[in-house]
Amino acid sequence: MPDVPPDAARRHAQLLTEIREHDYRYYVLDDPVIDDGAYDGLYRELVELERGHPELAIPESPTQRVGAEPRSPFKMVKHAAPMLSLDNTYNQGELQEFVRRVQAGLPAQAKPRFCVEPKLDGSSIEVVYREGRMVEGSTRGDGVTGEEITVNLRTIRSLPATIAEHRPLTLRAEVVIYRRDLERINVERSEAGAAPFANPRNAAAGSLRMLDPRVVAKRPLRAVVWQVVEGPELAPTHSESLARLRELGLPTHRLERVCDDVAEVFSAIADIQEKRKDFAYEIDGAVVKVDNFAHQEILGATAKFPRWAIAYKFGAERAATRVLDIVVGVGRTGALTPVASLDPVELAGTTVSRASLHNAAIVEHLDVRVGDLVSIEKAGEIIPQVVSVDTSARSGKEPSFVMPVTCPVCRTPVERSAEEVVVRCPNPLCPAVVRGSIFHFSRRFAMDIDHLGEALIEQLVDRGMLRDVADLYDLNAEELQKLDRMGTKSAQNVIASIQSSRARTFDRLVTGLGIPQIGQVAARQLAERAGSLEALLEWKSEDIDEELSAISGFGPKMIESVKSFLLEPAHRELLTKLRELRVSVPTRAPHTAEHGPAAGKSFCVTGVLARPREQIHAEIRAAGGQIHDKVRKDTTYLVTGEKVGKSKLDAAKKLGVRLLDEAELAKLLQGG
Ligand code: IVH
Repeated sequence: MPDVPPDAARRHAQLLTEIREHDYRYYVLDDPVIDDGAYDGLYRELVELERGHPELAIPESPTQRVGAEPRSPFKMVKHAAPMLSLDNTYNQGELQEFVRRVQAGLPAQAKPRFCVEPKLDGSSIEVVYREGRMVEGSTRGDGVTGEEITVNLRTIRSLPATIAEHRPLTLRAEVVIYRRDLERINVERSEAGAAPFANPRNAAAGSLRMLDPRVVAKRPLRAVVWQVVEGPELAPTHSESLARLRELGLPTHRLERVCDDVAEVFSAIADIQEKRKDFAYEIDGAVVKVDNFAHQEILGATAKFPRWAIAYKFGAERAATRVLDIVVGVGRTGALTPVASLDPVELAGTTVSRASLHNAAIVEHLDVRVGDLVSIEKAGEIIPQVVSVDTSARSGKEPSFVMPVTCPVCRTPVERSAEEVVVRCPNPLCPAVVRGSIFHFSRRFAMDIDHLGEALIEQLVDRGMLRDVADLYDLNAEELQKLDRMGTKSAQNVIASIQSSRARTFDRLVTGLGIPQIGQVAARQLAERAGSLEALLEWKSEDIDEELSAISGFGPKMIESVKSFLLEPAHRELLTKLRELRVSVPTRAPHTAEHGPAAGKSFCVTGVLARPREQIHAEIRAAGGQIHDKVRKDTTYLVTGEKVGKSKLDAAKKLGVRLLDEAELAKLLQGG
């Protein structure tokens, strides 16, 4: 890197090492040694340094984990060796039979040992390291070929971008989401009006296959390596290879136990089963593997399974209980959600007293009634589900459940649209909707207002002190002190938090508005497009479509949703009030240098490129160039990667925009 001053390069290398170490401690060992503030400080320093010297933003930098630009559909890649399935068993007899078969398949003097470990319930991937760098990652696919998802895997912080082993290494791992993380995502999703994920496995699998790595980066994915496929010279046995991977900073489950005989195998499995509820992630069984790689080789595989491994499945955990009541709640979006309140019962280590019934369609399908004996399950699901009703246990007096026709909170007649299974309260002033929207507005990922909990919001809404989020900024400490359990100090704290939230950037305000279809990433893009609340309010209704379609990744549904939000008079009034209260500061789009080889030129970058698109954009801006999302008549160059869409090429031809490939761009940016 010729143009980077040596002290900047040195500090950069130092920061990379330090941040990687902290990531490892946090994401792999779950044992951080510095607090979030100190970590953020290092990270910010790195971002600043790379902003000043874009050449430093190499793919291995932690800053690149925020995800590259959206990409075209995945390319297929062939796995190093087929990713086979595992033979399954649910009972000890079959397990004994497996151990006997292994012994019979090996030379008489061989004393096979077995490695017992958890079977993680996630989405399996293959990761390839070459010369110490992660170069490729793929999904399982059909076992022979999978989808190439390298850019998505780069966003997973527990997976190191570089390792201190330069020989070729190909690994298999499970991508999982911790239960506690899924709970959080699901709360956010239901608040954004999206369907919650049924279980961590679906959430992980869905996240990995998303086309926009920036969205993937927001998902709390973790990788747990369970096998070395290439590079077994690391160690002669599977258990030792896992230990070696750990030394390299790779994430493993750390739960393997080597067993000498079938009795030890049983006890190791029982141990895992007992600890199951304490694991942060879901498992659906234990895997028993022949430990010695040489023995594995001799045993080989059938077309479907290796002969050296078997899965002992635990099965879903279920319990039977009574439905005491079916209660209907109303969320921020007005959606009515039926919840079964249950006679408390033990299930998978917790006492369960509520189960989600999701929506009217599901209640109708199951025909759950108050008084029913039901079976509830927690097979990966966070919130237990009612899976079946024992109709034979009915007395005949159980009334069928009917969804209310008026909102249980404000009594407004509900609406049920044709394509929606959701029943909604259409009243924007419904106290439940108001409470929900204010709570959403105040959340960490939005306006981040401390000390403003759900109970306090409820009191304020019920007393008519809050009708919308703008009212927050008119509250004062004297008024607050009149509430239950609110002292002078706490009242002042609440007011201080509310007032300091006025300094949040505009994108957080947009997130906090809770526009349907618009999550954090889209909110940021929208905020960058408009710049500030003032500028957004100045958008003329006839320009809205054009502005929104210029945002990459904004499809018709999102555009329609934002448009109808912005055109609704009540929303305009709210935004105007917020502007008068001077809530939020502009969200700045990334900085463009004033001078440089690309000054006065504009670039539209398209296709699949060798490096992350965000990095290319940063380099263009650092050289003084401007970025266009679309080919326009004032675009100077169309920078093309592979698989460029015909429409962009046609537009460039028609408008006389010149084409550049990545290498030509690099030359131009260096002043060539
Ligand atoms: S070993 C040749 N170990 O289970 C197959 N698999 O049913 C060797 N899985 O596709 C598999 N945890 O996604 C192995 N500790 C573990 C595992 C594990 C989860 C998954 C994996 C595999 C599936 C097979």
